[in-house]
Amino acid sequence: MDIRIENLTKTYGTLNAVDHMNLTIKDGELVGLLGPSGCGKSTTLFMLSGLTTPTEGRIYFGDKDVTNISPEDREIGLVFQNYALYPHMTVEDNITFPLINRRVNKAQAREMALEMAKVVKIDQLMKRKPGELSGGQQQRVAIARALVKKPQVLLLDEPLSNLDAKLRVETREEIRRIQQEVKITTIFVTHDQEEAMSISDRIAVMKEGVLQQYEVPQTMYLNPANVFVSRFLGTPEINSIEVDVKDGEISANGLVLRKGVKLADGHYKAGIRPESFYLDENGVSLSVDSIRMTGRDLLIFSKLGSTPVRVLVHSYIQVAEGDKFGVSVREGHILIFDGQEKLIGRF
Ligand SMILES: Nc1ncnc2c1ncn2[C@@H]1O[C@H](COP(=O)(O)OP(=O)(O)O)[C@@H](O)[C@H]1O
Ligand SMILES: [Mg+2]
Repeated sequence: MDIRIENLTKTYGTLNAVDHMNLTIKDGELVGLLGPSGCGKSTTLFMLSGLTTPTEGRIYFGDKDVTNISPEDREIGLVFQNYALYPHMTVEDNITFPLINRRVNKAQAREMALEMAKVVKIDQLMKRKPGELSGGQQQRVAIARALVKKPQVLLLDEPLSNLDAKLRVETREEIRRIQQEVKITTIFVTHDQEEAMSISDRIAVMKEGVLQQYEVPQTMYLNPANVFVSRFLGTPEINSIEVDVKDGEISANGLVLRKGVKLADGHYKAGIRPESFYLDENGVSLSVDSIRMTGRDLLIFSKLGSTPVRVLVHSYIQVAEGDKFGVSVREGHILIFDGQEKLIGRF
């Protein structure tokens, strides 16, 4: 089912927790709602679920305006960070609970629960209590319970935040697999940019209640709409550099990074990702201030004139503190922003 959000706004006192948001989600897509803590992600999700009433704006599920429809009648499945399972009930009773509540007969409810338990791969655990499950298993039970009513929309609010790093990665892959299998339109709230990029069809990045950009992950990573998005996506963080453009040359602190660009003379904010540099003895000469080995990559801390920069190279490259090395920037990987911090081009 398509979801359409029009001018959606939630005001608390003088704070616009969500500020005139417009978004269309295609049927069967998984959208990652991403942004720092407090930017309005949960508020958006709660308005979609019907648990929070919008101050302004409309929400459509398909052609139907659901803005004033109660949560029970919206055909949504909800999953939160803290599983919210009933601790005294078995896994099976937890999953059948929403069905029994809806007066589905017991035998049929059990059959539907088993079917969903198989999809999320917990059908061997039906007789256990939540306390006898790992965090990842509990979250699967929560997902099975959310899906058992065959909702039209699945809403997940930071569902992986209570899991340790390795389980987070495994469980996010599982969520993607389940979502693809059930083909359900899904909104997945997270503050973790890598999590969002890895499983989303599209990402919506928010800042202070305002939608910044809505794009497929790779396109957004390469073409961030503004400085905020460029810095929020990617680790290690993008290098923010002040540059001068004169006669088609982009330079930072007098060091020429690119020639022959079509850009008005002036002073600009630029962004260069650490991995956008490549070693080039004919390029700009830098020296190694310090090194951090991260496994696959080596992160070199250096300076472009007086501006600190991070340069990412393969870990098989041998360098030591104090060494000199030459770098250039990959074609199209110098991002140039205007005075309002909006992307104006890639050079
Ligand atoms: N019930 C509420 N009353 C007052 N302020 C709220 C309420 N719920 C959320 N807020 C505020 O709205 C902003 C957005 O909150 P939230 O949507 O929870 O952010 P996120 O989920 O992105 O961390 C925050 O500044 C938060 O303090
Ligand atoms: Mg939240």
